Amino acid sequence: AGRPKPDSPAQRARACLARHMLNSDAPDHLRLRRLTTAAFTPRRVDALRPRIERLTDGLVAEVSGLLTGGRTADLVDSFAFPLPVLVIGEVLGVPEADRASLREWTYRVGSPADALERGATDQAWAALHAYFTTLIAHKRRSPGDDLFSALVHDASEGGLDDGELLAMAFLLLFAGYETTMNLLASASLLLLTHPAELAAAREGGEARWAAVVEETLRHASPLEGTTWRRTTERVDLGGGAVIPAEESVLVVLAAAGRDPERFPDPDAFRPARHLAGAAADGDAERAAPHLAFGHGPHFCLGSRLARMEAAIALPRLFGALPGLALAAEPERLPYRPGLLVRGPRELPVTHAPRR
Ligand code: HEM
Repeated sequence: AGRPKPDSPAQRARACLARHMLNSDAPDHLRLRRLTTAAFTPRRVDALRPRIERLTDGLVAEVSGLLTGGRTADLVDSFAFPLPVLVIGEVLGVPEADRASLREWTYRVGSPADALERGATDQAWAALHAYFTTLIAHKRRSPGDDLFSALVHDASEGGLDDGELLAMAFLLLFAGYETTMNLLASASLLLLTHPAELAAAREGGEARWAAVVEETLRHASPLEGTTWRRTTERVDLGGGAVIPAEESVLVVLAAAGRDPERFPDPDAFRPARHLAGAAADGDAERAAPHLAFGHGPHFCLGSRLARMEAAIALPRLFGALPGLALAAEPERLPYRPGLLVRGPRELPVTHAPRR
């Protein structure tokens, strides 16, 4: 029932979105990927750090304001959702004046159809589509120092045409915000329900916060599964598991993160398993990498940005609000619907300032 009508603005926007690299195979994928990798250099991504710090501090101040006088606020709504959208605004070079609209349209497009008034989702798709079309024309005329401008102006291999750029803007927005939102929300929830781990992170500094981020990615994989794959030939996985040719396959990344052969006591949230030397300390655990960012040719292009964002956001949030506490039963928290993404839909918190 929530599907857009054929030939509605939402349907047209979705058709554009479907042309992106995550939905392409080589050689198209290779060309799109090479151009995007050239724009997402570590230097360009790292240069976003001061801006992400500023955006985080602004939002933390807003959250702090919402919590004054013992009030309750939703950490998803006020922090985990807006931060990644604002950061994608930086990546796409969206002017400050348009950020509030970007946040609102993204919110509407990402909301379940029954959560908004009739037609609101359609209007938001159309608004995003029109906005990105204008943004691309603007970047062609006057490029900024943002990553997206670098993509618009990279003419190697014929560059990207306007349709491909439009699909790219949508892909970056949706690949970048919903995943990171779930990472921030799940990490906050895990820290609020594991006070000893929160205390260890506060005392342990950068390396310990980085371990919290890795452990959240493993334990609460923000993308539950990959996008659909199709076998081009018979695949023998061993142990009697054979996938015939021409079959659709959904790889469940979240299950890989809880593989007991790889991660002893896999359901436990233990950031220390990711600290350097964890395996060497006589601890039988291997600091095995998780699969939260995927694997192979489609490995996440934003992993560096996502890790940096979380490693900035979490210590600042918990540093500024030392008395943050969950205002709901963790077992009763609603989760996002669907098979693709995973994370709490809301995270009510209160703050009791420490004396
Ligand atoms: C915690 C945050 C994130 C997680 C867990 C995540 C996870 C993933 C995964 C699992 C894939 C592969 C999907 C598949 O194989 O079907 C992927 C692809 C991708 N991600 Fe991320 N992602 C995150 C953040 C970001 C950010 C911040 C951006 C960009 C701003 C981004 C951009 C992309 C792009 C462009 C692809 C497609 C790559 C390709 O097809 O070659 N991601 N991501």
